[in-house]
Amino acid sequence: MATATVESLSHDGRGVARVDGKTTFIEGALPGERVRFRYFNQHRNYDCGGLVDLLEASPNRVAPPCPHFGRCGGCDLQHLRPEMQIQAKQQVLAGQLAHIGKVQPETWLEPVTGPALGYRRRARLGARFVPEQGGMVIGFRERRKSFLANLDTCLVLEPKIAALLPELRALVGGLSCANRVPQIEVASGDAASALVFRHLVPATERDRECLRDFGQRHNLQIYLQPHGPDSIVALWPEQPEELYYRLPEFDVQIRFRPTDFIQINHDINIKMIAQAIRLLELKGDEQVLDLFCGLGNFTLPLARRAGRVLGVEGDETLVAGARRNAQLNGITNAKFVTADLYQESGDTPWVGFRVDVLLLDPPRGGAMEAIKRLAQPLPSRIVYVSCYPATLARDSEYLVRVLGYRFAAAGVMDMFPQTSHVESMALFVKP
Ligand SMILES: C[S@@+](CC[C@H](N)C(=O)[O-])C[C@H]1O[C@@H](n2cnc3c(N)ncnc32)[C@H](O)[C@@H]1O
Repeated sequence: MATATVESLSHDGRGVARVDGKTTFIEGALPGERVRFRYFNQHRNYDCGGLVDLLEASPNRVAPPCPHFGRCGGCDLQHLRPEMQIQAKQQVLAGQLAHIGKVQPETWLEPVTGPALGYRRRARLGARFVPEQGGMVIGFRERRKSFLANLDTCLVLEPKIAALLPELRALVGGLSCANRVPQIEVASGDAASALVFRHLVPATERDRECLRDFGQRHNLQIYLQPHGPDSIVALWPEQPEELYYRLPEFDVQIRFRPTDFIQINHDINIKMIAQAIRLLELKGDEQVLDLFCGLGNFTLPLARRAGRVLGVEGDETLVAGARRNAQLNGITNAKFVTADLYQESGDTPWVGFRVDVLLLDPPRGGAMEAIKRLAQPLPSRIVYVSCYPATLARDSEYLVRVLGYRFAAAGVMDMFPQTSHVESMALFVKP
């Protein structure tokens, strides 16, 4: 046991202190607090521990609203006032840009904020049959452990789905294949929600009957997934309405399958797309390249404001979905191609397409390989949407120092409130 004064928040939401000159990460501690903590593990250059007692609490500390906070690994910032969470994320982003990329933006964008709870439209719930815990356990992974936290509720999930967790647990626990259902995926669109049950052995007719009945009673679409993501089949209704979300400002509707990637926070997604398009300063005749385009979430709104758009994406089922979305929205100036954007060589997917402006929205690995393949003339503006500040920082350095861009602006977006995930947007401009 030791005491420490916490100086800042780490990129994963832990308090950072110096104890006897050594950097120490303390779970549950906030900047400005004096705490007593227990060591979890000690390393050569840093130590890790967890809060035991608050000797002096931060004025920004709040009672975590969720009864599972502390155990469930889904959220790690509920003890910090929501408006301070986003400030802390901006500091994390600034720190990573400075330390990893040795860059800083000329201006900071106002943080993009939305509801602090009940925002999550997509989730993958783990399921496990644990007789010692009374049977079925459904929830997210516990912090630092591989066990599942058994959830009665989840305050960040859409309330309609969160309210069903106890009944969902009883449902799965009553199936003949209860111990062979490892996960349940949740997906909600504007008009309907779906549950996808992954099962490792065939479901019996009685299992199907129970699942159908659950779907019918709660007005939920029910899917079965016996193998990989492409094996999902609708159980109830037999021909469900497709899930979709609308982007009203651009008169776009995006249809998706329950297992497809979508931005999980609809409110922030709407604001994020609007901000990206504003920063690109489109006049209407530009050619836009949208890398890591998914189902066309940015591509189709961009197509409404630009001359031509090319979307590039690695998952061919998403590319097929994006093409279909373009067609259903009557959009003819957006094209999509499938390509692995982490390949460093081979054909460049956008060869022959003049790139006036560029939008990038990569996964955590960042976009270095794709950026290195940009050809002259380089795009005049680049909007980079990032879910991982460390790779954004690395790529920013390359854009600024090697390709000569001005780092015009950056800002954080509250895509995942109550968690330490930092979603951000950066703007690079060719001088
Ligand atoms: C953060 S998501 C963004 C999707 C989309 N822009 C949106 O807003 O919905 C990242 C996307 O990168 C795609 N991706 C992952 N690895 C890839 C790769 N190696 N090459 C191309 N795309 C990849 C994923 O399939 C996913 O659609």
